[in-house]
Amino acid sequence: MAENEIKKIAVLTSGGDAPGMNATIRAVVRTATYRGIKVVGVRKGFSGLIHGEIEDLSPRSVSDTIHRGGTILLTARCPEMMTKEGQDKAATLCNILGLDALIVIGGDGSLTGALELSKRGVNIIGIPATIDLDLCCSDYTIGFDTAVNTGMDAINKIRDTSTSHERCSIVEVMGRNAGYLALWCSVAGGAEDVLIPEDKTGDINRVINLILENRSKGKKHNLIIVAEGIGGSVAMAKEIERVTGITTRATILGYLQRGGAPTATDRMHASVMGYNAIECLAAGEKNRIIIYKDGKHSSVDLEEGLNTQKDYDPSMYNMVKILSI
Ligand code: F6P
Repeated sequence: MAENEIKKIAVLTSGGDAPGMNATIRAVVRTATYRGIKVVGVRKGFSGLIHGEIEDLSPRSVSDTIHRGGTILLTARCPEMMTKEGQDKAATLCNILGLDALIVIGGDGSLTGALELSKRGVNIIGIPATIDLDLCCSDYTIGFDTAVNTGMDAINKIRDTSTSHERCSIVEVMGRNAGYLALWCSVAGGAEDVLIPEDKTGDINRVINLILENRSKGKKHNLIIVAEGIGGSVAMAKEIERVTGITTRATILGYLQRGGAPTATDRMHASVMGYNAIECLAAGEKNRIIIYKDGKHSSVDLEEGLNTQKDYDPSMYNMVKILSI
């Protein structure tokens, strides 16, 4: 038996759920089973790891899940995992369970928690899944495409009524710290302006000036996308209406964007990334993040990947402006 042979692994989903998490779990479980690796599922993310909520998984446990949003393993935000005690407890449980590796499916915060476990000797394979697309080392995170499409679909409907009434519409999309979802929804939805946390030049005055300018150009309605991290959409709508005299309504899409059946793009990335996670382990790799970079699936060192920084690139914002003249 090879020294690095993997016999038993656990898989968990952590942080905000994302469409495609189930397709990822499915790929992990089935590829591992094919390779003769036993898989256990951890319920409720790191919280379940700390408190020992474990179940055996087989290829049949993941039947009929590829098309389902959410996560069959459940997920949670876990403040305990941010403490040294919580991290120690989680690492101890991995030892008690006799795990050769732990697959963590989640976003930046979840993988940062997982890094602490790797420092305690747990072999971690991270798979990026978040509707926020804010894991800098990967060009794609599972769930993003579905969330953009859900947002775009809602925006299309809001646009119909906004146009009919010649109103201004503010649409608030998810993204507390990251504006990728808002930017993509703006381009795909044909918005006039977008406010995101990364862009320090955006505020209500910029939006009001734009609306007034658009009116002088003959535009009858305006669509403004606001990221959750900026917030205050209802108050913003009232202020725009007060200053411009144009009837303005706000719609907050909220959790609508985190649910739903994953798109084909998400199912593809989820399946490939889940499969690659096990292939990485089978190849004897340790502490990696499975990524999609420059058009190819690959992997990167866990710590190095989490230290990658991405500066805000205003080019997509500039494009939103040009395409809405
Ligand atoms: O999972 C990502 C995300 O949906 C962000 O877009 C949002 O800001 C955050 O999670 C909300 O998290 P919670 O549901 O825990 O409040």
